[in-house]
Amino acid sequence: MSLPGRAEAIDRIASARRDMPLVAGIPGGHPAPGPLSGRVIAACVHLTPETVVLVEALRGLGARLRLCAANPLSTQDGVAAHLRRMPGVEVVLGTPDWDGYRWAVGEIAAQGADLVIDDGADLILALQAGPALEERPLLGACENTSTGALRLQTAQRAGSLDIPVFAITRSAAKRLYDDLHGTGQSVLDAILRTTNLLLAGRVAVVAGYGTCGRGIASRLRALGARVVITEISPQAALEANLDGLAVRPMAEAIRDADLVVTATGSRDVVVEDHLLAAKDGVILANAGHFDVEIDAEWLRKSGPGTPVRPGLTSYSLPNGHDVLLAAEGRVVNLAAAQGHPPAVMDVTFATVALCLLELGATVPRTGKAGAALGYPAGVHSVPPHIDTTVARLALVRAGVGLDIPTTAQRQYLRTWGGPVRATPSRDPAEWAP
Ligand SMILES: NC(=O)c1ccc[n+]([C@@H]2O[C@H](COP(=O)([O-])OP(=O)(O)OC[C@H]3O[C@@H](n4cnc5c(N)ncnc54)[C@H](O)[C@@H]3O)[C@@H](O)[C@H]2O)c1
Repeated sequence: MSLPGRAEAIDRIASARRDMPLVAGIPGGHPAPGPLSGRVIAACVHLTPETVVLVEALRGLGARLRLCAANPLSTQDGVAAHLRRMPGVEVVLGTPDWDGYRWAVGEIAAQGADLVIDDGADLILALQAGPALEERPLLGACENTSTGALRLQTAQRAGSLDIPVFAITRSAAKRLYDDLHGTGQSVLDAILRTTNLLLAGRVAVVAGYGTCGRGIASRLRALGARVVITEISPQAALEANLDGLAVRPMAEAIRDADLVVTATGSRDVVVEDHLLAAKDGVILANAGHFDVEIDAEWLRKSGPGTPVRPGLTSYSLPNGHDVLLAAEGRVVNLAAAQGHPPAVMDVTFATVALCLLELGATVPRTGKAGAALGYPAGVHSVPPHIDTTVARLALVRAGVGLDIPTTAQRQYLRTWGGPVRATPSRDPAEWAP
């Protein structure tokens, strides 16, 4: 567990509340006792100020919550203490290690719940096998991570996923806020904090031109770096090329690089041969989820690292060159900066809250079927109408006005727009104010 203490936590929670108007505003349209009244939500989440804002909103919708920490290292003591004092909220914390984590997940699973919020799928899988299931059947869950969604898909293929789960990462709004802009900004923040590098005029190689890579590349470019992309996908490489960026294989690109940022989701993107071909003093940072994109293991074997600045280690290679590695190759914006700003979490958690309403609202509703009515067991993308609602709320927050399609326009788009629509969220039926 880590700082801050409760007084500091209260300040941070107040600040998060100010920056998260979407989540904070969700209970507003629902009079007491709220559509989730009587529901118990089990949640395995990071105990941060942003999570408190989500918990407050779910309480405002009538739910009771049982929480444990998704990662003992990300738990903030003061936040946990604050949550413990909230009525209708129970916090189960074990020792601050992985044994303590497993114990807490088991405790929560033993008590059962109606709905789940998870960060890695451990709690969902434990609840499904829990003793309380007979008395309290699970209605559904939200899984916040791609890794957790993949695990659940594997369970689904094996026939052992019994409830509908919304994969929160598969939402258009989340991808825009979190992956493109949030990651783009916080990765640059982490690189600047750890290196204090002047980017103007430098050659920056970005491995992977997916959503995260595009966000990182656009910000590097805005700060004056000459950006080179490495890719394995012809479509992504073409997009980079048409965006005016150089695209080269890593073995060539790294020769001129001052900075290399990996964002591929794959492994072995920068390995021994690349490192030996790199310029003296090249800086390496990883934005991908796992620390397997840069072969830090090989660097560590090549000799002891020398700390250069907080979060930056220099390794001397057999060819006499130095390589500087940020955050030991771990995901740099989480390991060496503050992760995403609350405004990003606002969109992600608003999506979570609306998905839980969809899955567990107790009031009869017309229109879109609730989960209990309509969603089969399995991993689902966030429903387009929820994505659209979150986008609308975010636009209101940003003070952006939209045109409203006329009846004739809707009719025209339904007739001629249907076959070429890029995504379901472009369905004019979803645009009705
Ligand atoms: N740091 C963060 O806060 C944060 C946030 C969201 C996602 N992520 C992680 O970032 C990674 C990328 O996510 P994304 O959403 O951009 O994925 P994505 O699938 O949209 O893009 C990945 C891109 O990398 C390319 N690629 C794959 N292997 C490659 C290789 N060997 N060399 C060059 N290019 C390669 C793919 O063709 C693809 O275009 C994932 O690990 C994801 O979990 C990190």
